[in-house]
Amino acid sequence: MTTETLPEIGSIEPNRHGYRSFALGRFTFERDEYFAHITWPQGRHLMPVDAFLKALQRDIAWGFFYGIVNFDGVVGTINHYGTVDLFAGRFSDHYRRAGLDYSENFKTPLIQRVFEAMLEDWTNSTFDPFASPAETGSAFGPKNGSNKRAITRHRVTAKRMIGCPGDEPRRSDEAGFPINRHFRDVRQDEPEVKAEPGFEDQVVAFNLFAYLSRSDVTWNPSVVSVCKASLYCPTTEEYILPVIHGNDRVEWFVQLSDEIHWEVEDRDTGAVRARVVMKAGDVAAMPADIRHRGFSPKRSMLLVWENASPDLPALYASGKMPPTPVQF
Ligand SMILES: [Fe+2]
Repeated sequence: MTTETLPEIGSIEPNRHGYRSFALGRFTFERDEYFAHITWPQGRHLMPVDAFLKALQRDIAWGFFYGIVNFDGVVGTINHYGTVDLFAGRFSDHYRRAGLDYSENFKTPLIQRVFEAMLEDWTNSTFDPFASPAETGSAFGPKNGSNKRAITRHRVTAKRMIGCPGDEPRRSDEAGFPINRHFRDVRQDEPEVKAEPGFEDQVVAFNLFAYLSRSDVTWNPSVVSVCKASLYCPTTEEYILPVIHGNDRVEWFVQLSDEIHWEVEDRDTGAVRARVVMKAGDVAAMPADIRHRGFSPKRSMLLVWENASPDLPALYASGKMPPTPVQF
């Protein structure tokens, strides 16, 4: 079959399953009813298409995030904050030693455009890549419509602490989101604030648990407070983190409710380093040289505390900063 190719985007003609194919440099992407097929000059790989779309969705929504977004143990992206590497086998010891790893650098707007076009074309009307498996239909089968409303959701980003004048974000309760089935026991009352006279418009508070109980997405942090480079990014988690995140800085986790199991591996080789079970109230500092994937048996609340300072990756990469915040 001959297909006409749009420069830098993909085929116009769909394949026999109804899906367009895409190319980025020397990588190609194709989907059939069950799998995403990825090829590069020395190799090929396939992923279940539901897992692929969930990872692709986060990579786009998070602007390629901090450091490395591994879609699985083989394929992923590295954010250089302006450009992005797309790679295969780069963080697998075995692919590296066999010489099968490959990586190519793209300007961020280009890879973003191709990823967005692929996500839109490959997501059927029945599937929401942000939702938990129990709250979405199937990703599989031949092309069946689209779900643009779901895939173009944006993370809510506060301009100030929520509750302050000018805080901006839509409050999830005001926007009419229902309390999630796993959070029906979460109290919805707001804190009572008793400010000294004259300070009434400067002291604010809100019920973060109530806010999170209405989150309609999983594994998608929203930024609820910003203080210089310090970002509080709480999120609700259920089932499996769709990416294996390779850190380029220390990341703090505060488990606000329930339980998450983390698999922690060496960022560069994939060798297992730890399994961490975090229960409500537990705090962990994920080192700057690891990659991790979380498993949440029921919907839980996690506060991810990020330091967004642009200087950090170079400080860790050069060894000027140790990869853990505390040396024991
Ligand atoms: Fe991380």
